[in-house]
Parts: sequence; structure tokens; C-alpha cells
Amino acid sequence: MKVTVVGAGNVGATCADVLAYREIANEVVLVDIKEGFAEGKALDIWQKAPINLYDTRTVGVTNDYSRTAGSDVVVITSGLPRKPGMSRDDLISTNAGIVQSVTENVVKHSPDAIIIVVSNPLDVMTYAAHMTSKLPRTRVMGMAGILDTARYRAFLAEALNVSPKDIQAVLMGGHGDTMVPLPRYTTVGGIPVTELIEEEKLNAIIERTKTGGGELVKLMGTSAWYAPGAAAAQMVEAIVRDQRRVFPVCVKLEGEYGIDGVYLGVPVILGKNGIEKIIELQLNEEEKQLLENSRGHVKEVMDALDKINASA
Ligand SMILES: NC(=O)c1ccc[n+]([C@@H]2O[C@H](COP(=O)([O-])OP(=O)(O)OC[C@H]3O[C@@H](n4cnc5c(N)ncnc54)[C@H](O)[C@@H]3O)[C@@H](O)[C@H]2O)c1
Repeated sequence: MKVTVVGAGNVGATCADVLAYREIANEVVLVDIKEGFAEGKALDIWQKAPINLYDTRTVGVTNDYSRTAGSDVVVITSGLPRKPGMSRDDLISTNAGIVQSVTENVVKHSPDAIIIVVSNPLDVMTYAAHMTSKLPRTRVMGMAGILDTARYRAFLAEALNVSPKDIQAVLMGGHGDTMVPLPRYTTVGGIPVTELIEEEKLNAIIERTKTGGGELVKLMGTSAWYAPGAAAAQMVEAIVRDQRRVFPVCVKLEGEYGIDGVYLGVPVILGKNGIEKIIELQLNEEEKQLLENSRGHVKEVMDALDKINASA
């Protein structure tokens, strides 16, 4: 199995590192536009192999897509991250240009690849990559839901003083403050979370999760990478090992949840063909309203991208 990670910055290099030390692929190609940067990161990860005992080969290239040819999965992390005070949507014009040109190169050399987008604003960059690639929607998807859900699970584990391993949860909707929490689908070792925590505390955790990315941007001056890189690698693993994992993933909706033509995070089954199935939950009225807010917000940013592309 061959996996390419475009963007050898914080998220891309972390993803490549997880792919290597967990031996998720035989070969990982890192690509960056900055001369020598991907080569250096790939060499550093390869020099860790004798210490961490893995044999995945990591190779770095500067913008040379011929080296990525025949990739099974491609993760796109290229683009600017947020700085304090910025919203993800502020990145749209710069990152759309990057994601669209990268996608063209990726598809030219790996027409059968499954593409996982990580660059922000996530839902709209997934739209940009999908439109550019002309691939079926099951093969172009965005990573955000696993990260958002992991943040929620981590906060809950801390509040309940239990292992994060035992917390199962799903969040839906756009990657941002309009994400849709589903506490009635959250369990702790099979026990509904609502039986273990007061409503007020749970609501505070949900609010913290919605702005969880911003909390880290404020602390570090740039956005997070350990959890995002690991989350993207987990999606790659589900695909290359045909695990049929159930994850929240950003995909173009075509009628599911009564939504058509908008890219949103929904629970899916992820396997060797990419999105094997979109799972449709029966949402209550409040959840439907939250999803509608999320849809409206993502659609506005999609329209903004259409305008940018039309005037280019
Ligand atoms: N989806 C999520 O949940 C999530 C989480 C964290 C970060 N992000 C996003 O991921 C992206 C990357 O974040 P980061 O922290 O790794 O940033 P970073 O600045 O550390 O790395 C980005 C890399 O992309 C490279 N790059 C820029 N243009 C390129 C091009 N045309 N081709 C190849 N490489 C190019 C840069 O040289 C840089 O090395 C940002 O847009 C960030 O907002 C998304």
C-alpha cells in the first residue's frame, strides 16, 4: 500500500509519522512546496524506524508528483493554518487555490486514489477537492468529525475520571462552531452519558468542544497537529485495511438528512472503497435545527468559494 501526504507541515508530518510507526502503509510519500522540507521530514521519520521498529519507507519530495504515482490514498494537508483571532473561513481564498492545484496533480498521477482532505475550512475544501477531482463522492472526503469527537471524548474522560477508550460518541455537521453534538448517542462503557454527568457539566463540555480548535490556536499561536494528524491516519487505516469503521466523515450529501449538494460531517462506514455507506440517524427536532444551521453556514462558505472561482 502506498500513501501520499501533501503538506509536510505540522499536521502532514504527524500523519506521516503515525502511518509509518503503525505500519499502515508500505510506503509514505510526503510532498511539500517548500524546497527540501518534505525530504527532511521524511528522512527524520525514516531514521526513527530502527528505534520504534517499523519498516514503512518514508520518502520526501519537493512538488514532484511523479513520485506519488499509484498512491492508494492521498491525504491533503497543504495550506495555511489559523492564527489567533482568525476563523477557519478566513483561510478560504488562499487554501482553495492550494487545494485545487494539489488535487489536480494528485489525480493526474493517482487516478484511483481515495482522497482525504484536512485543510481548512474543511467542509468547503472537501467541496473544492471533490469538484476538481471529478471522482465519485465516496472517494473524496474530509477529516474533522473524528477530531471533534475525540476532543469531546477527551474532555468527558477527564470530567468523569475514566479511560477515554470507554467513551463512544458521534458529532455531526460542519467543522466549526456549528457542529452538532448528539449526547443521546454518547455512552461510557455502554452506559448513556446522561446517567453519569449533570446536564450543566455536559453542556459546558459540548461548548468547549465546539471551540476546541480555537482554544489550541490561542495557546500555541497556530492550530493543533497531534490529534488532527492521528485522526487522518486513522481514516487511512480504515481504508487500507478495509476495517469498515464507523466514523463521522465530511462528504457531499445527496438527499441524506434531507440535504442536497452540501458537504457535511455525518456518520459513515469507511472501508476499502472509501465511504461504503452513509448512516442516517433519526434526528429529533432540536438536532434537525442544529444540522440546518450547520448546513446554512457551510453553504454560505461554498457560495463564497464559487464567487472566488468565477472571478478568477
Ligand atoms: N480538518 C481538521 O480538523 C484540521 C485540524 C488541524 C489543522 N487543519 C488544517 O490543516 C492545514 C495544515 O495545517 P498545519 O498546521 O499542518 O500547517 P503548516 O503550516 O504547519 O503546514 C502546511 C504545509 O503546507 C505546505 N504547502 C503550502 N502550499 C502547498 C502546495 N501548493 N503544495 C504542497 N504543500 C504546500 C506548506 O509549505 C507547509 O509546510 C491548515 O489548513 C489547517 O487549518 C485542519
